[in-house]
Amino acid sequence: MTILLTGAAGYIGSHTAVALAEAGYDVAIVDDFSNSSPEAVRRCEALTGKKMPLYEADVADKAAMARIFAETKPAAVIHFAGHKAVGESVAKPLKYYRNNLDTTLSLLECMADAGCKRFIFSSSATVYGAKAAVPYTEESETGGCTNPYGWTKFMIEQIAGGVAKADPAMSVVLLRYFNPVGAHPSGRIGENPSGIPNNLMPYITQVAVGRLPHLNVFGDDYDTPDGTGVRDYIHVVDLAAGHVKALEYALSHTGTEVFNLGTGHGVSVLELVHAFEAATGVKVPYVIAPRRPGDLASVYADCSKAKRVLGWKAEKTVQDMCADSWRWQSNNPNGY
Ligand code: UFG
Repeated sequence: MTILLTGAAGYIGSHTAVALAEAGYDVAIVDDFSNSSPEAVRRCEALTGKKMPLYEADVADKAAMARIFAETKPAAVIHFAGHKAVGESVAKPLKYYRNNLDTTLSLLECMADAGCKRFIFSSSATVYGAKAAVPYTEESETGGCTNPYGWTKFMIEQIAGGVAKADPAMSVVLLRYFNPVGAHPSGRIGENPSGIPNNLMPYITQVAVGRLPHLNVFGDDYDTPDGTGVRDYIHVVDLAAGHVKALEYALSHTGTEVFNLGTGHGVSVLELVHAFEAATGVKVPYVIAPRRPGDLASVYADCSKAKRVLGWKAEKTVQDMCADSWRWQSNNPNGY
């Protein structure tokens, strides 16, 4: 059975490709490499010993996608492709709305044309915006997003939900990721941000490897135990396993379901820095900097629904996240 993954040369998609191949699925990938490298897919093939047909195309290109659907005949689609830099989305809102919405609309149209009824989407905890109280459950209020990137996730959830409502044979699973970190324990695939990283863990590893001089800790006066921001960091290998469970669910159900994928535990910026130092023996110099606009004090998940319905929960520790991120970064100091 073939599963078509969009954007799977990227960070979460590549780890999911490995997990799906190991679970016995055939994986086909479409990616335009606008923010990723085909080398990631070659390494996924090497890790699993399975071929993963790789199509270079823009997901918004319906003619190209129609050919890919005809060739691969996927039983399901997992849609990772999309722009994801929060700050850039504030500066270039149209780029984000155009790309993230266009690709998804075209993809859903191609799926309808091809009779493919299973759609799994990379959503984000960002859809909870600033409205709900932590821990977020899937019933927490969404909307009130603080940036266009977040709004694209929110809008795509509405669009996919509407498609499932209109077609009773359709299955849509919306996965709200918290903060993915870590890398495959082999150190062969991992997160490879272009330019200076926006996110905390890749920033830490680039300081540790000597590419950046120090970490800026964005605010130490939040209402949290040590004053720094608290997030629910989840190991990308656990997250990938969550996709395999979500796929099994999508293959045997119809309608729309939403799942939080996190650990349920909040970790502060300084706790993560100290955990990284303890796991790797490498010092991470930091300075306290002003708060970053749009950041919330504390974001973490209630993941009981994923455990109850999917039989999934995160297994890996913060130490695993740090050690595996470091293995990837130190083995690949310049990425792919
Ligand atoms: N932080 C720093 N210094 C840095 C980078 C981050 O102190 O150089 C802090 C932030 O202030 C925050 C924490 O580290 O407290 C995590 O920040 P990230 O940028 O790693 O992650 P965010 O929680 O801001 O955003 C992430 C994803 C988004 C997603 C959001 C959902 O990057 O795509 O989670 O809640 F929308």
